[in-house]
Amino acid sequence: MDNNKQIILFVFIIGFTTLITSCKPNLKKVDEKDISVDSLLNLRYEQLLQYPIDSLAFPRSYTIKEGKIKKVPSKDWTSGFFPGNLWQIFELTQDNRYKEVAKKWTAFVEKEKFNNHTHDMGFKVFCSFGNGLKSFENQHYKNIVVKSAQTLITRFDEKVGSIRSWDFNKHKWSFPVIIDNMMNLELLFEATKISKDSMYHKIAVAHANTTLQNHFRPNNSTWHVLDYNPENGKVNTRVTHQGISDDSSWARGQGWAIYGFTMAYRYTKNPKYLEQAKATASFFTGHKNMPEDGIPYWDFDAPNIPNEPRDVSAAAIVASALIELYGYTNNESYLNYSKKVLNSLQSKNYILAENVKAPFILNHSSGDWSKRAEMDEPIVYGDYYFLEALTRLKKIK
Ligand code: GLY
Repeated sequence: MDNNKQIILFVFIIGFTTLITSCKPNLKKVDEKDISVDSLLNLRYEQLLQYPIDSLAFPRSYTIKEGKIKKVPSKDWTSGFFPGNLWQIFELTQDNRYKEVAKKWTAFVEKEKFNNHTHDMGFKVFCSFGNGLKSFENQHYKNIVVKSAQTLITRFDEKVGSIRSWDFNKHKWSFPVIIDNMMNLELLFEATKISKDSMYHKIAVAHANTTLQNHFRPNNSTWHVLDYNPENGKVNTRVTHQGISDDSSWARGQGWAIYGFTMAYRYTKNPKYLEQAKATASFFTGHKNMPEDGIPYWDFDAPNIPNEPRDVSAAAIVASALIELYGYTNNESYLNYSKKVLNSLQSKNYILAENVKAPFILNHSSGDWSKRAEMDEPIVYGDYYFLEALTRLKKIK
């Protein structure tokens, strides 16, 4: 090679290397993993929008093996979550398409305001109409919240001091109250705010006090079901329905307790509620069987840990509750814990794969082991509390 050729080759190599390295900072700034996770989330949101609107077919869960969506009517305890998810995606994205579809699904839940056969009124009506009210002023929605509260309190018993949870009597329970029932109190507290009638608030407080007194173990975990004697208000038995055993700690039940007492504190400022929420949160987050990524097994005492299904819904409920708890305590560790869980959930480990055509966002929730149903699957309420946590995080930012 003569000198001239060598110089040309040298200039070419230098030029090419400069071009490559000048691109590098940009490549570094844009993290490929983040982009694909982000667009995967958006793609999942779109799937909720594309799901056919049908008053009898609220999407509840998805069986991956069979490729089948479980669809339920409005009387199912989960019907409020799908409209709630659409409202919350609207809140996060400000994309009006979600609001319009949310209104349609929400309207299908209205008839539940008369359904007095269940305690799940809050889940159904407040997750749908209640979320709508966060997005826009609507007197009709407010009337529905108050009517639903009127129906729910017909299940309150003075002697027990609680709202009865279930009517089914497979177990011969006299007056079953489950920890999940704390979640329905938000509807009652809000009904008092709307109507100025203190009765709903008072019943919610009575229920919370009875639960506080009887539902917790000395280590601050909660039993799932308490059966009361309606003749004298005493506890007959403390058992489980969805956990592995009566004395085990069913993960979602712990989540309902943490969320329920944090929310009850919001309306009452009763320090005992705050203390219970903190104590159960500490049991949950510090449990020896809690995996590193903050997504618990479905029951902390399940026999085959670490080869047991996780429960994304329990993780999401607690992530959302701890953001609220942070607001009352200023304890950054609650916020940091929630962020850690949300980071785990917003990863490809938990977001439902791109090729799954179903109106859900996250995989790996666990529903009801007693029926061997919906274990390790996408379930609508896992998505609901995940979206709520994202919305809450966005607000405090
Ligand atoms: N409330 C029913 C459940 O958490 O599965």
